[in-house]
Amino acid sequence: MRVSIIGTGYVGLTTGVCFAWLGHDVTCVDTDQAKVDSLARGVPTIYEPFLEQFMAEARDHIRFTTSYAEAIPGSEVVFIAVGTPPGPGGSPDLRYLAAAAKAVGRNFDGDYAVVVNKSTVPIGSGNWVDTLLCESWQEAHGSAARGQFSVASNPEFLREGTAIHDTLYADRVVIGSDATRSLEVLYTLYRPILDQTFVPPSYLPRPEDLGAVPLVSTDLASAELIKYAANAFLALKISYINEIGQLAEKVGADITQVAKGIGLDARIGSRFLQAGLGWGGSCFGKDTAALVSTASEYGLKMHIVEAAQTVNVRQRERVVEKLLGEMKILKGRTIALLGLAFKPNTDDLREAPAVAIARQLLDRGCRVKVHDPVALDRFRREYADLGPLGVICCETPEQTVEAADAVVLVTEWPQYREMNWEAVAQSMRTRLLLDGRNVLDRARLTRAGFHYLTMNGDIQAAVETTTAA
Ligand SMILES: NC(=O)c1ccc[n+]([C@@H]2O[C@H](COP(=O)([O-])OP(=O)(O)OC[C@H]3O[C@@H](n4cnc5c(N)ncnc54)[C@H](O)[C@@H]3O)[C@@H](O)[C@H]2O)c1
Repeated sequence: MRVSIIGTGYVGLTTGVCFAWLGHDVTCVDTDQAKVDSLARGVPTIYEPFLEQFMAEARDHIRFTTSYAEAIPGSEVVFIAVGTPPGPGGSPDLRYLAAAAKAVGRNFDGDYAVVVNKSTVPIGSGNWVDTLLCESWQEAHGSAARGQFSVASNPEFLREGTAIHDTLYADRVVIGSDATRSLEVLYTLYRPILDQTFVPPSYLPRPEDLGAVPLVSTDLASAELIKYAANAFLALKISYINEIGQLAEKVGADITQVAKGIGLDARIGSRFLQAGLGWGGSCFGKDTAALVSTASEYGLKMHIVEAAQTVNVRQRERVVEKLLGEMKILKGRTIALLGLAFKPNTDDLREAPAVAIARQLLDRGCRVKVHDPVALDRFRREYADLGPLGVICCETPEQTVEAADAVVLVTEWPQYREMNWEAVAQSMRTRLLLDGRNVLDRARLTRAGFHYLTMNGDIQAAVETTTAA
């Protein structure tokens, strides 16, 4: 099928490359000329495992352009995957969505296209995009649009770091539209994924237990709400375990054992129950805020979602409080932060806890040394203001911890687990370590001479529970 993708960020690029890899004819449009130039050369603009290889394998089926006039005419499906960053008051900033919809309406010249909101957009945006498409079509063509467009919602659930895997081997595909024809078109487009008819790449095998991918086909508003409800649920699961973690610290319980003990209940599940310094990234903060904002337009208060937000903000503050509690004076100290990206296997820094923590430490008069295996260059570009304030970017984790008064593990990149912590202990000024993700080997670090802290205290691990009857 002929597919256009508007916006080549984390979602648009992954979607475009995967559909092209599956054999569809894809044109990606982005307003950022530098991005388009890089992508046209086959060089990804984001860090995402397997993306470069997929782009190379799909190159005969994908083009990149800044020109809507080149991309839109003749498209059967147009995905809008532009950013919807948080706006004032929690509701998302929809200016990129509006610009994209208007440009599609102006440039389309075929008989029929399905225009798909893949961006996470507030409930009701489908109807709004439909209006924008028809208005701009009329402006450009001088006559009213008559059935040229159907709008659908196809929320995206990929996780950065496993985006290609999540697209090919999705847990589910959700398609919402009030027009049967658009549901049929999208069903055809997604068929190779739904029925898993493609030959999997050797380096990204199909999960053994994956059968057909479930399709949830629904009305527009339900699809839009599904995305927000899913993200808010995941966010509150994390905040729930972090809140329990605060109590665990007070009563002397081990939160990792508590999480294991409750996560083995199939009704609860163990995923998203890792206590630590909380969620980050471009989605959870923005989407919980949007949900609260949408509900307030209808006179509703989202008590649980708001509580999840509060707990998450608090976790970041607790990092600084813990360091303060141990060191008493933070002014003049050097703190090493290991990890900048909001999670491993991505270079995405949006809402990254490391950035918030660095700012709080700078406010307290600390010098902050930072490292990340892939996000350092992006950090230098996007947070250039932090350098003059006292943030020092280091090329290796070893340089970062050298002569530091404390180290905080912020992002659980595997290479940090495998560091030579005995050597690190020798190079630090004070052997204080706050493991913000509960992933390091407490016994080993203690042997190396570290005062080992987690977000939930420094208690000795509780006796390992066993599954023995
Ligand atoms: N990143 C994720 O993990 C993720 C997951 C699920 C859903 N989403 C949602 O998907 C949407 C996109 O997120 P992202 O992370 O890919 O954003 P992003 O910021 O990485 O990419 C957006 C892209 O859109 C381009 N753009 C902006 N206006 C444009 C226009 N008028 N025409 C063409 N291109 C334009 C930008 O230059 C940019 O390249 C958001 O609504 C987000 O909430 C993101």
